[in-house]
Amino acid sequence: MSKKIILTGERCTGKLHLGHYVGTLKERLKIQESGDYDEFYIEIADGQSLTDNAKNVQKVKDNLINVALDYLSVGLDPSKVTMFIQTEVPELTELNFYFLNMVNLSRLLRNPTIKTEIKQRGFNESIPAGFITYPVSQAADILGFDGTIVPVGEDQLPMIEQCVEIARTFNNVYGKTFDEPKAVISTNKVCARLPGIDGNAKMSKSLGNCIYLSDSSEEVAKKVMSMYTDPNHIHVEDPGKVEGNIVFTYLDVFATDEDVKKYMTDYSTIEELKEHYRRGGLGDVKIKKLLIAVLEDLLSPIRERRAIYEKDLSKVYDILFDGSDKARKKVQEVLARAKRNMGINYRELLKGEK
Ligand code: TRP
Repeated sequence: MSKKIILTGERCTGKLHLGHYVGTLKERLKIQESGDYDEFYIEIADGQSLTDNAKNVQKVKDNLINVALDYLSVGLDPSKVTMFIQTEVPELTELNFYFLNMVNLSRLLRNPTIKTEIKQRGFNESIPAGFITYPVSQAADILGFDGTIVPVGEDQLPMIEQCVEIARTFNNVYGKTFDEPKAVISTNKVCARLPGIDGNAKMSKSLGNCIYLSDSSEEVAKKVMSMYTDPNHIHVEDPGKVEGNIVFTYLDVFATDEDVKKYMTDYSTIEELKEHYRRGGLGDVKIKKLLIAVLEDLLSPIRERRAIYEKDLSKVYDILFDGSDKARKKVQEVLARAKRNMGINYRELLKGEK
Protein backbone atom coordinates (compact mmCIF):
# COMPACT_ATOMS: atom_id res chain seq x y z
CA MET A 1 0.00 0.00 0.00
CA SER A 2 1.35 3.35 -0.92
CA LYS A 3 1.42 6.03 1.73
CA LYS A 4 -1.34 8.61 2.01
CA ILE A 5 0.45 11.79 1.10
CA ILE A 6 -1.85 14.77 0.69
CA LEU A 7 -0.60 17.61 -1.49
CA THR A 8 -2.56 20.63 -2.56
CA GLY A 9 -2.29 24.39 -2.85
CA GLU A 10 -3.40 27.69 -4.29
CA ARG A 11 -2.02 30.43 -6.40
CA CYS A 12 -1.68 33.65 -4.48
CA THR A 13 -3.28 36.19 -6.76
CA GLY A 14 -6.16 37.09 -4.45
CA LYS A 15 -7.77 36.49 -1.12
CA LEU A 16 -9.67 33.25 -0.64
CA HIS A 17 -13.47 33.27 -0.74
CA LEU A 18 -16.46 31.10 0.14
CA GLY A 19 -16.05 29.18 -3.11
CA HIS A 20 -12.60 28.07 -1.96
CA TYR A 21 -14.02 27.26 1.45
CA VAL A 22 -16.74 24.86 0.34
CA GLY A 23 -14.80 23.68 -2.71
CA THR A 24 -11.62 22.58 -0.98
CA LEU A 25 -10.69 24.18 2.37
CA LYS A 26 -13.49 22.34 4.15
CA GLU A 27 -12.28 19.03 2.74
CA ARG A 28 -8.73 19.78 3.92
CA LEU A 29 -9.99 20.55 7.43
CA LYS A 30 -11.89 17.27 7.41
CA ILE A 31 -8.75 15.36 6.41
CA GLN A 32 -6.70 17.25 8.99
CA GLU A 33 -9.16 16.39 11.77
CA SER A 34 -9.46 12.74 10.69
CA GLY A 35 -5.69 12.34 11.04
CA ASP A 36 -6.03 9.73 8.30
CA TYR A 37 -2.85 10.53 6.36
CA ASP A 38 0.89 10.03 6.53
CA GLU A 39 1.99 13.45 5.31
CA PHE A 40 0.04 16.58 4.47
CA TYR A 41 1.46 19.51 2.47
CA ILE A 42 -0.17 22.74 1.34
CA GLU A 43 1.65 24.89 -1.15
CA ILE A 44 1.26 28.59 -1.75
CA ALA A 45 2.05 28.59 -5.46
CA ASP A 46 3.75 31.97 -5.81
CA GLY A 47 5.86 30.72 -8.74
CA GLN A 48 2.78 29.58 -10.62
CA SER A 49 1.19 32.96 -9.88
CA LEU A 50 4.10 34.63 -11.65
CA THR A 51 3.37 32.72 -14.88
CA ASP A 52 0.74 35.34 -15.68
CA ASN A 53 1.86 38.07 -13.29
CA ALA A 54 5.55 38.37 -14.09
CA LYS A 55 5.36 42.14 -13.96
CA ASN A 56 3.18 42.14 -10.91
CA VAL A 57 5.40 40.70 -8.21
CA GLN A 58 4.00 42.99 -5.53
CA LYS A 59 0.51 41.62 -6.04
CA VAL A 60 1.80 38.06 -5.68
CA LYS A 61 3.76 38.95 -2.53
CA ASP A 62 0.81 40.73 -0.94
CA ASN A 63 -1.44 37.80 -1.58
CA LEU A 64 1.07 35.26 -0.37
CA ILE A 65 0.54 36.52 3.15
CA ASN A 66 -3.21 36.91 2.58
CA VAL A 67 -3.54 33.28 1.54
CA ALA A 68 -1.41 32.15 4.49
CA LEU A 69 -3.69 34.14 6.81
CA ASP A 70 -6.72 32.56 5.14
CA TYR A 71 -5.29 29.06 5.74
CA LEU A 72 -4.52 29.70 9.37
CA SER A 73 -7.76 31.49 10.09
CA VAL A 74 -9.98 28.70 8.73
CA GLY A 75 -8.19 26.40 11.16
CA LEU A 76 -5.48 24.67 9.14
CA ASP A 77 -2.98 23.76 11.81
CA PRO A 78 0.77 24.04 11.13
CA SER A 79 1.46 21.28 13.65
CA LYS A 80 -0.54 18.89 11.45
CA VAL A 81 -0.08 20.35 7.99
CA THR A 82 3.12 21.56 6.34
CA MET A 83 2.38 24.90 4.68
CA PHE A 84 5.10 26.13 2.37
CA ILE A 85 6.06 28.61 -0.33
CA GLN A 86 6.66 27.12 -3.79
CA THR A 87 9.68 29.26 -4.66
CA GLU A 88 11.35 28.33 -1.38
CA VAL A 89 11.61 24.78 -2.72
CA PRO A 90 13.82 25.24 -5.82
CA GLU A 91 14.13 21.46 -6.35
CA LEU A 92 10.61 21.62 -7.73
CA THR A 93 11.88 23.61 -10.70
CA GLU A 94 14.52 20.98 -11.41
CA LEU A 95 11.88 18.27 -11.47
CA ASN A 96 9.83 20.49 -13.76
CA PHE A 97 12.85 20.67 -16.08
CA TYR A 98 12.81 16.90 -16.59
CA PHE A 99 9.02 16.67 -16.71
CA LEU A 100 8.90 19.18 -19.57
CA ASN A 101 10.36 16.40 -21.74
CA MET A 102 7.48 14.08 -20.82
CA VAL A 103 4.78 16.11 -22.56
CA ASN A 104 4.28 17.78 -25.91
CA LEU A 105 3.06 21.25 -26.68
CA SER A 106 -0.17 20.25 -28.41
CA ARG A 107 -1.23 18.24 -25.37
CA LEU A 108 -0.62 21.27 -23.18
CA LEU A 109 -2.66 23.46 -25.50
CA ARG A 110 -5.52 20.97 -25.23
CA ASN A 111 -5.71 21.25 -21.44
CA PRO A 112 -9.24 22.65 -20.93
CA THR A 113 -8.30 24.82 -17.94
CA ILE A 114 -5.39 26.32 -19.83
CA LYS A 115 -7.64 26.94 -22.85
CA THR A 116 -10.18 28.84 -20.75
CA GLU A 117 -7.50 30.79 -18.95
CA ILE A 118 -5.78 31.83 -22.17
CA LYS A 119 -9.09 33.25 -23.39
CA GLN A 120 -9.81 34.97 -20.07
CA ARG A 121 -6.44 36.64 -20.05
CA GLY A 122 -6.62 37.69 -23.71
CA PHE A 123 -3.14 36.30 -24.42
CA ASN A 124 -3.96 35.64 -28.11
CA GLU A 125 -0.67 34.81 -29.84
CA SER A 126 1.60 36.01 -27.05
CA ILE A 127 1.13 33.34 -24.41
CA PRO A 128 4.06 33.29 -21.95
CA ALA A 129 5.83 29.92 -22.29
CA GLY A 130 5.85 29.62 -18.51
CA PHE A 131 2.09 29.93 -18.53
CA ILE A 132 1.50 27.21 -21.13
CA THR A 133 3.72 24.86 -19.18
CA TYR A 134 2.47 25.55 -15.69
CA PRO A 135 0.52 22.25 -15.63
CA VAL A 136 3.90 20.51 -15.91
CA SER A 137 5.28 22.49 -13.01
CA GLN A 138 2.11 21.63 -11.10
CA ALA A 139 2.83 17.95 -11.78
CA ALA A 140 6.25 18.53 -10.21
CA ASP A 141 4.53 20.11 -7.20
CA ILE A 142 2.50 16.96 -6.69
CA LEU A 143 4.93 14.20 -7.72
CA GLY A 144 7.84 15.97 -6.00
CA PHE A 145 6.19 15.05 -2.72
CA ASP A 146 5.08 11.57 -3.84
CA GLY A 147 1.62 13.05 -3.45
CA THR A 148 -1.13 10.46 -3.76
CA ILE A 149 -4.20 12.47 -2.80
CA VAL A 150 -4.93 15.96 -4.13
CA PRO A 151 -7.97 17.73 -2.66
CA VAL A 152 -8.86 20.52 -5.11
CA GLY A 153 -11.70 22.47 -6.65
CA GLU A 154 -13.35 21.03 -9.74
CA ASP A 155 -11.51 23.42 -12.09
CA GLN A 156 -8.24 21.68 -11.23
CA LEU A 157 -9.25 18.23 -12.54
CA PRO A 158 -7.52 18.69 -15.93
CA MET A 159 -4.30 19.53 -14.06
CA ILE A 160 -4.40 16.33 -12.06
CA GLU A 161 -5.19 14.35 -15.20
CA GLN A 162 -2.14 15.83 -16.88
CA CYS A 163 -0.06 15.06 -13.78
CA VAL A 164 -1.13 11.40 -13.95
CA GLU A 165 -0.09 11.25 -17.61
CA ILE A 166 3.32 12.71 -16.76
CA ALA A 167 3.81 10.19 -13.95
CA ARG A 168 2.86 7.39 -16.33
CA THR A 169 5.18 8.57 -19.10
CA PHE A 170 8.07 9.06 -16.69
CA ASN A 171 7.52 5.55 -15.29
CA ASN A 172 7.45 4.11 -18.81
CA VAL A 173 10.63 5.84 -19.86
CA TYR A 174 12.74 5.55 -16.70
CA GLY A 175 11.12 2.71 -14.72
CA LYS A 176 8.57 2.89 -11.94
CA THR A 177 9.29 6.06 -10.00
CA PHE A 178 5.96 7.70 -9.12
CA ASP A 179 2.56 6.55 -7.87
CA GLU A 180 -0.35 8.04 -9.77
CA PRO A 181 -2.12 10.65 -7.65
CA LYS A 182 -5.89 10.96 -7.27
CA ALA A 183 -7.91 14.17 -7.09
CA VAL A 184 -10.48 14.54 -4.34
CA ILE A 185 -13.28 16.96 -5.14
CA SER A 186 -16.40 17.86 -3.26
CA THR A 187 -19.16 15.35 -4.01
CA ASN A 188 -21.71 18.12 -3.61
CA LYS A 189 -22.15 19.69 -7.06
CA VAL A 190 -22.90 23.18 -5.79
CA CYS A 191 -19.92 23.07 -3.42
CA ALA A 192 -17.62 21.96 -6.22
CA ARG A 193 -18.55 25.15 -8.05
CA LEU A 194 -20.24 27.69 -5.80
CA PRO A 195 -22.06 30.34 -7.86
CA GLY A 196 -21.24 34.02 -7.36
CA ILE A 197 -23.53 36.43 -5.52
CA ASP A 198 -24.66 37.77 -8.92
CA GLY A 199 -25.92 34.35 -10.03
CA ASN A 200 -22.94 33.70 -12.31
CA ALA A 201 -22.02 30.00 -12.38
CA LYS A 202 -18.75 30.58 -10.57
CA MET A 203 -17.59 32.71 -7.68
CA SER A 204 -14.46 34.33 -8.97
CA LYS A 205 -12.29 37.29 -8.15
CA SER A 206 -12.19 38.47 -11.76
CA LEU A 207 -15.99 38.51 -11.93
CA GLY A 208 -16.18 40.58 -8.74
CA ASN A 209 -18.92 38.38 -7.27
CA CYS A 210 -17.19 36.97 -4.20
CA ILE A 211 -17.72 36.89 -0.48
CA TYR A 212 -14.20 36.73 0.96
CA LEU A 213 -13.30 34.85 4.12
CA SER A 214 -11.78 38.10 5.36
CA ASP A 215 -14.83 40.31 4.63
CA SER A 216 -16.17 42.25 7.61
CA SER A 217 -19.68 41.61 8.96
CA GLU A 218 -20.84 44.79 7.24
CA GLU A 219 -19.39 43.73 3.89
CA VAL A 220 -21.00 40.30 4.11
CA ALA A 221 -24.38 41.79 5.03
CA LYS A 222 -24.18 44.27 2.17
CA LYS A 223 -23.23 41.57 -0.33
CA VAL A 224 -26.01 39.23 0.78
CA MET A 225 -28.53 42.07 0.56
CA SER A 226 -27.44 42.64 -3.05
CA MET A 227 -27.73 38.95 -3.95
CA TYR A 228 -29.51 37.73 -7.02
CA THR A 229 -32.87 36.12 -6.15
CA ASP A 230 -35.86 35.73 -8.45
CA PRO A 231 -36.26 38.79 -10.68
CA ASN A 232 -40.00 38.13 -10.98
CA HIS A 233 -40.55 38.04 -7.23
CA ILE A 234 -41.36 41.73 -6.98
CA HIS A 235 -43.96 41.91 -4.22
CA VAL A 236 -43.77 39.80 -1.08
CA GLU A 237 -47.03 38.10 -1.96
CA ASP A 238 -45.85 37.09 -5.47
CA PRO A 239 -45.00 33.41 -5.89
CA GLY A 240 -41.23 33.03 -6.03
CA LYS A 241 -38.76 30.67 -7.65
CA VAL A 242 -36.33 28.72 -5.50
CA GLU A 243 -34.35 27.11 -8.32
CA GLY A 244 -31.58 29.40 -9.51
CA ASN A 245 -32.32 31.72 -6.58
CA ILE A 246 -28.85 32.20 -5.18
CA VAL A 247 -30.00 32.90 -1.63
CA PHE A 248 -31.61 29.47 -1.51
CA THR A 249 -28.62 27.90 -3.24
CA TYR A 250 -26.43 29.28 -0.47
CA LEU A 251 -28.88 28.27 2.26
CA ASP A 252 -28.73 24.71 0.91
CA VAL A 253 -24.94 24.81 1.18
CA PHE A 254 -24.44 26.69 4.44
CA ALA A 255 -27.62 26.39 6.54
CA THR A 256 -29.17 23.52 8.44
CA ASP A 257 -32.71 23.08 9.76
CA GLU A 258 -31.24 23.84 13.20
CA ASP A 259 -30.25 27.26 11.89
CA VAL A 260 -33.78 27.84 10.62
CA LYS A 261 -35.17 27.00 14.07
CA LYS A 262 -32.60 29.23 15.74
CA TYR A 263 -33.06 32.31 13.57
CA MET A 264 -36.65 32.18 12.28
CA THR A 265 -39.68 32.15 14.53
CA ASP A 266 -42.31 30.58 12.28
CA TYR A 267 -40.36 27.90 10.43
CA SER A 268 -38.43 24.82 11.41
CA THR A 269 -36.93 23.55 8.15
CA ILE A 270 -35.41 24.95 4.96
CA GLU A 271 -38.03 22.99 3.04
CA GLU A 272 -40.83 24.91 4.81
CA LEU A 273 -39.18 28.16 3.88
CA LYS A 274 -38.93 27.07 0.26
CA GLU A 275 -42.59 26.05 0.17
CA HIS A 276 -43.67 29.40 1.54
CA TYR A 277 -41.45 31.27 -0.89
CA ARG A 278 -42.89 29.30 -3.82
CA ARG A 279 -46.47 29.98 -2.66
CA GLY A 280 -45.79 33.66 -2.16
CA GLY A 281 -45.83 35.69 1.03
CA LEU A 282 -42.20 35.28 2.08
CA GLY A 283 -40.00 38.28 1.34
CA ASP A 284 -36.40 38.25 0.09
CA VAL A 285 -35.22 40.29 3.06
CA LYS A 286 -36.26 37.58 5.52
CA ILE A 287 -34.33 34.83 3.76
CA LYS A 288 -31.37 37.13 3.24
CA LYS A 289 -31.29 37.92 6.95
CA LEU A 290 -31.22 34.21 7.70
CA LEU A 291 -28.32 33.74 5.31
CA ILE A 292 -26.44 36.65 6.90
CA ALA A 293 -26.84 35.07 10.35
CA VAL A 294 -25.65 31.70 9.10
CA LEU A 295 -22.62 33.16 7.33
CA GLU A 296 -21.77 35.15 10.45
CA ASP A 297 -21.70 31.93 12.46
CA LEU A 298 -19.25 30.50 9.95
CA LEU A 299 -17.10 33.58 9.41
CA SER A 300 -16.82 35.16 12.84
CA PRO A 301 -14.48 32.51 14.36
CA ILE A 302 -12.44 32.71 11.13
CA ARG A 303 -12.23 36.50 11.52
CA GLU A 304 -11.19 36.20 15.17
CA ARG A 305 -8.34 33.82 14.39
CA ARG A 306 -7.27 36.05 11.53
CA ALA A 307 -7.08 39.08 13.81
CA ILE A 308 -4.70 37.21 16.13
CA TYR A 309 -2.34 36.15 13.34
CA GLU A 310 -2.52 39.57 11.67
CA LYS A 311 -0.98 41.09 14.77
CA ASP A 312 2.09 38.92 14.34
CA LEU A 313 2.91 38.54 10.66
CA SER A 314 6.50 37.55 11.39
CA LYS A 315 5.12 34.47 13.11
CA VAL A 316 3.11 33.66 9.98
CA TYR A 317 6.26 33.96 7.85
CA ASP A 318 8.10 31.71 10.31
CA ILE A 319 5.39 29.07 9.90
CA LEU A 320 5.86 29.28 6.12
CA PHE A 321 9.66 29.17 6.29
CA ASP A 322 9.68 26.19 8.68
CA GLY A 323 7.22 24.46 6.40
CA SER A 324 9.34 25.28 3.35
CA ASP A 325 12.46 23.80 4.98
CA LYS A 326 10.57 20.62 5.75
CA ALA A 327 9.06 20.49 2.26
CA ARG A 328 12.47 21.02 0.70
CA LYS A 329 13.97 18.00 2.47
CA LYS A 330 11.14 15.86 1.18
CA VAL A 331 11.50 17.02 -2.43
CA GLN A 332 15.28 16.57 -2.32
CA GLU A 333 14.75 12.88 -1.55
CA VAL A 334 12.20 12.40 -4.31
CA LEU A 335 14.33 14.30 -6.82
CA ALA A 336 17.37 12.18 -5.98
CA ARG A 337 15.33 9.05 -6.63
CA ALA A 338 14.05 10.41 -9.94
CA LYS A 339 17.58 11.30 -11.09
CA ARG A 340 18.83 7.88 -10.02
CA ASN A 341 16.12 6.25 -12.13
CA MET A 342 17.00 8.52 -15.05
CA GLY A 343 20.64 7.57 -14.64
CA ILE A 344 21.94 11.11 -14.17
CA ASN A 345 23.14 10.50 -10.60
CA TYR A 346 26.76 10.83 -11.81
CA ARG A 347 28.39 11.19 -8.42
CA GLU A 348 26.66 8.14 -6.96
CA LEU A 349 27.53 6.12 -10.08
CA LEU A 350 31.22 7.05 -9.94
CA LYS A 351 31.42 6.21 -6.27
CA GLY A 352 29.80 2.85 -6.95
CA GLU A 353 32.40 1.99 -9.61
CA LYS A 354 35.38 2.55 -7.34
N1 TRP B 1 -3.31 25.54 -9.89
C1 TRP B 1 -3.72 25.73 -8.53
C2 TRP B 1 -4.58 26.99 -8.46
O1 TRP B 1 -4.72 27.68 -9.41
C3 TRP B 1 -2.57 25.89 -7.58
C4 TRP B 1 -1.61 24.72 -7.47
C5 TRP B 1 -0.29 24.76 -7.74
C6 TRP B 1 -1.92 23.41 -7.03
N2 TRP B 1 0.28 23.57 -7.51
C7 TRP B 1 -0.66 22.70 -7.08
C8 TRP B 1 -3.07 22.73 -6.64
C9 TRP B 1 -0.59 21.35 -6.75
C10 TRP B 1 -2.97 21.38 -6.30
C11 TRP B 1 -1.75 20.69 -6.35
O2 TRP B 1 -5.10 27.31 -7.42
